[in-house]
Amino acid sequence: MANRTKVFVPSDTTARSLGADSVAAAIAEEAQRRGANVEIVRNGSRGLYWLEPLVEVLVGDVRHAYGPVGPNDVASLFDAGFLVGTKHALALGPTERIDYLAKQQRLTFARVGVVDPLSIEDYRAHGGYRGLTNALSLTGEQIVATVTESGLRGRGGAAFPTGIKWKTVLGATADQKYVVCNADEGDSGTFADRMIMESDPFVLIEGMTIAGIAVGATKGFVYIRVEYPQAIRTLRAAIERANAAGFLGNDIRGSGREFHLQVREAAGAYICGEETSLLESLEGKRGMVRYRPPLPAIKGLFGKPTIINNVLSLSSVPVILDKGAKFYAGFGVGRSRGTITIQLAGNIKRGGLVELAFGKPLREILYDFGGGSATGRPIRAVQAGGPLGAYIHPKHFDTPFDYEQLAAVGAMVGHGGLVVFDDTVDMGEQARFAMEFCALESCGKCTPCRIGAVRGVEVIDKIRGGENGVANTALLRDLCDTMVTGSLCALGGMAPFPVLSVLNHFPEDLQARVGKPRAA
Ligand SMILES: Cc1cc2nc3c(=O)[nH]c(=O)nc-3n(C[C@H](O)[C@H](O)[C@H](O)COP(=O)(O)O)c2cc1C
Ligand code: SF4
Repeated sequence: MANRTKVFVPSDTTARSLGADSVAAAIAEEAQRRGANVEIVRNGSRGLYWLEPLVEVLVGDVRHAYGPVGPNDVASLFDAGFLVGTKHALALGPTERIDYLAKQQRLTFARVGVVDPLSIEDYRAHGGYRGLTNALSLTGEQIVATVTESGLRGRGGAAFPTGIKWKTVLGATADQKYVVCNADEGDSGTFADRMIMESDPFVLIEGMTIAGIAVGATKGFVYIRVEYPQAIRTLRAAIERANAAGFLGNDIRGSGREFHLQVREAAGAYICGEETSLLESLEGKRGMVRYRPPLPAIKGLFGKPTIINNVLSLSSVPVILDKGAKFYAGFGVGRSRGTITIQLAGNIKRGGLVELAFGKPLREILYDFGGGSATGRPIRAVQAGGPLGAYIHPKHFDTPFDYEQLAAVGAMVGHGGLVVFDDTVDMGEQARFAMEFCALESCGKCTPCRIGAVRGVEVIDKIRGGENGVANTALLRDLCDTMVTGSLCALGGMAPFPVLSVLNHFPEDLQARVGKPRAA
């Protein structure tokens, strides 16, 4: 239709929770009242959450941004002529030139916020399904070699090389193999998996299909956090469309290759994100950790060889198969190749998603992107990598964000979540929280975790209450050591890390706190 202006209003959970639906309705109403010819596209979020709802208008071939927009701003936007990209108090200029976005290197998230999430045509128009098309002309060995050469490591937390995992499944002989996507996303401060599933679901479907073709798996499951109803709905709808368009099913695009995909709602427990618990849960049992060996790659879902990967690992595969292993490996530093999606959360001024090549110093991420704390007070600590990650002290803020260099200061990348605290935080309380979280979420299979975490809370309470501080601190370290070395999985094995980071870097906060609240 002539002179129809495209207006983009994000439809992801965060934008909607900030009022994007009423903004979209107000724009539709105002356009009708004024006889303006407007097409509203519900894209995903660009990940600049502090600017949501972020409305974009396509002028020529440039998208102009306005935000954060409330329903009451809509009339004045029309008055100012925002449909042709004119100035307004909320105008942010061309979206791609907003500093926060312009300074990123978006590979996995290249289409997120750009495309209509459920339009397969839009997906293809923006480079989608090129990776699968290439993969269909390769052998399984060639696909696995490409993923290995790219240097991709698991983005779920353990950072295991993806190609090596796939090679094990490829080499296993079985009448059935599976691809399982871990979309349980339980880490504090993380939302990247949800963003992909709500904003660019086809990239995950494409990545899983390539994985299936690579190793000879014909069935896949996406195990999605039950608290993500919109991601569940969106992914189910996208799978239906991919089936209808021949990108899933018995004969993918006439290649004779087969891959079927289903969504499963998760059980709502943190431990069900641990891969063996997840497999138990997928099989309909209580989420309890399995002994290893055998590895899931040899004996996984229903006892069959299974690839289990995080959403981001699988969603990074299409760009690797499209642009090549060298292209992807050209980003990053050392053994941390490619890009990492950092999620800025907690007490931070500009919360949101930042995709960057590995190696950017933490300080730049916190201040250049994040803009410092939301309260304007000094940042005192950052927890990286979820509830099992260490609290990073400001003296380590110049550490480059990559697997090895963060590990060298006792911290970890994990799933890329950063939770920020200002100088009013009580780190003793945070140490207690780590043990309490472990006690609540423990699956109960092994003693160091099941009993240790409960005792950990008690000992911390004693130290904070002024009871035998020196002896109880030594006891706490001893307990941490037992949990680290004796636990069956990383929940009990890593819950001591945040506690130890408080003991090592913020010991003053663990002293007796009776009647001594931290000054605000
Ligand atoms: C307690 C616990 C919770 C976990 N939660 C998640 C999760 O929510 N999502 C995820 O991808 N990996 C999670 N993991 C890591 C998985 O066990 C596993 O390493 C990952 O799914 C492998 O995929 P990747 O190689 O692509 O990272 C968790 C691990 C532990 C110990
Ligand atoms: S460490 Fe905790 S969660 Fe892991 S197996 Fe042992 S009891 Fe279960």
